[in-house]
Amino acid sequence: MNNEEKIRLLNEAFVHEIEATMIYVRNAFIMPQCDPSRVTEAIAIDEMRHMNWLADLIVKRGGKPSMEHQELDFGGDTLRSQLEHQVVHETGAIEMYKRQIGLIDDDEVVGVLKHILDEEKRHRKEFRMRIERM
Ligand SMILES: [Fe+2]
Ligand SMILES: [Fe+2]
Repeated sequence: MNNEEKIRLLNEAFVHEIEATMIYVRNAFIMPQCDPSRVTEAIAIDEMRHMNWLADLIVKRGGKPSMEHQELDFGGDTLRSQLEHQVVHETGAIEMYKRQIGLIDDDEVVGVLKHILDEEKRHRKEFRMRIERM
């Protein structure tokens, strides 16, 4: 895989993390109940750490982090629909990172992506637990 393609994939991941960060920061303020709100806020901070790790990999390889995210979908107006949307967003991240880990031949990048993938699986579990408790 050439460097340009690697940067393109890292930017795909970076944009996914921007969207997660912004959706979760916003939803954490909207959610009326304390526990799901706190969990969503804490996970938003994880997603911003992921942005930082990916931006570091992009810049080290001569690229620039992309800010070209899509229009944000916050998952509607209820706590349940927001949590369900957040589960869907995590599943999207999990599938993306698995695909990228299979494609990218760069040990440093793959190491970081595997670490992020583990965190996304934990995030999905945290959101699912909050839905089950409703
Ligand atoms: Fe993430
Ligand atoms: Fe996540």
